[in-house]
Amino acid sequence: MTALAALTMAAALPAAAAPASASETAQITVHVDQPGPVMRPELQGQFAEELGHGVYGGIWVGEDSPIPNIRGYRKDVVAALQAIKVPVIRWPGGCFADGYHWRDGVGPRAQRPVRLNMNWGGVEEPNSFGTHEYMDFAELIGAKTYISADVGSGTAGEMSDWIEYMTSDSHSTLAQQRRANGRDKPWRLDYLGVGNEAWGCGGNMRPEYYANLLRQYATFVWSPPGRPIVKVASGANSEDVHWTDTVMANAAGSIDAISLHAYTIPRSDWSHKGSATDFGEDQWMSTIKGSLRMEGLIAAHSAAMDKYDPAKRVGLLVDEWGNWYDAEPGTNGAFLYQQNSLRDAITAALNLNIFQAHADRVRMANIAQMVNVLQAMVLTDGPRMVRTPTYWTYDLYQVFQGATALPVEVAGPDYAFGADAVPAVHASAGRDGAGVVYLALVNVDPNHAVTVTARLAGLTAKGVSGQLLTAPMINSVNSFDHPDVVVPTAFTGASLVGQVLTATLPAKSVVVLSLR
Ligand code: AHR
Repeated sequence: MTALAALTMAAALPAAAAPASASETAQITVHVDQPGPVMRPELQGQFAEELGHGVYGGIWVGEDSPIPNIRGYRKDVVAALQAIKVPVIRWPGGCFADGYHWRDGVGPRAQRPVRLNMNWGGVEEPNSFGTHEYMDFAELIGAKTYISADVGSGTAGEMSDWIEYMTSDSHSTLAQQRRANGRDKPWRLDYLGVGNEAWGCGGNMRPEYYANLLRQYATFVWSPPGRPIVKVASGANSEDVHWTDTVMANAAGSIDAISLHAYTIPRSDWSHKGSATDFGEDQWMSTIKGSLRMEGLIAAHSAAMDKYDPAKRVGLLVDEWGNWYDAEPGTNGAFLYQQNSLRDAITAALNLNIFQAHADRVRMANIAQMVNVLQAMVLTDGPRMVRTPTYWTYDLYQVFQGATALPVEVAGPDYAFGADAVPAVHASAGRDGAGVVYLALVNVDPNHAVTVTARLAGLTAKGVSGQLLTAPMINSVNSFDHPDVVVPTAFTGASLVGQVLTATLPAKSVVVLSLR
């Protein structure tokens, strides 16, 4: 859980910072003539752990709730998630996964055992949201399924039974038990995580030991005929390339993917991470810098993987990432509930750009976490729900799901604060099946607009349209009372002349352009 830490702490400025002033300029080349790999929809994946109100109250309220629901799932949350085409949902953890015994969560709800959720506040876990509820929820949203199995405290046999229970079309006792519990057809299990953070909450293992266990457990991941399950190794903590190297050296042949966890905390200190909303330009900069470190992390872990898998058969799944702040004052600290501001929208866009640029190796990325936990898509309060600024970044980036990556070169000004400097403009591009080219542009400078001149190599577009996400302040939020402070608007600042596009990006903004 090491942070993608901030490096320099300069004096804090008021959150409003300086007013936007004169425009700077940047030059971009989009190589439409050099199409790369497909950017899998899973790059916009989500993570829903049994933690705080991530599931209970956030997704699941039960059929008898006065909150409008579909078979127990909140209608408002379902509609919001359907609208951003959530491609995959990872469940049940996280740290929760390695103490979770799946049999606790099947059968009549009233008879399920109540356990203690020791990782997250020691609260009672009613097990009302178990395998059937998760699988049906994924179907309702239209998302692929990704289950993390218990390696830290469970057996390979228990894991194997769970897979058979979910996926078998036979009349085995486990498949019949699933039918007796209300589900006739087998579900599709797309991804199976062999443990979670085996180096930490998943068992405090050394990589050599985990690699041996991985080989053993992976042996018992039986895929149903014609429906292969992607086997995912529990991967490294941020900079720990030795973990990736050791697991790949010893078990690459047993897996299809390996994960990576990398969180950003503004203050490089787990006991004082920084506030989600009460921050100045120093923490704006440190969070931007922390997010940009994802580029180097992916490069370093990919290089370790290349040693054993030069053909890039094994995927790198960044299946936990995001901004992690101090919990919102007045809430249970173990529930990891935090507000979400324009800063989160901007850093989400930076990370998505990085994942897209590495689509040859990065096959999935799951922001932590989908509802009410860490850098969430939506927050709920009883019957109310609000879409966060991060949600709107995902909304803008939907167009990249399944598109072909296009290389982008950027030359432009730096955004500097104190002793730190980062490129002000960050970009990624793709082309969809219909030939539409999409260009995502992020201006991280909170004080200056940047005018971008983009050469579209291999494309003479006839028209350009776009969407803009920005807000008055670096810490602007969407609250339950004011839900539309940080929302996309039509972008009218772009023009086209032949193969040259010009766009003026407002300070602290995300712009996604469509070129037809
Ligand atoms: O997302 C919160 C926690 O962070 C997860 O449970 C764990 O895997 C990680 O350390």
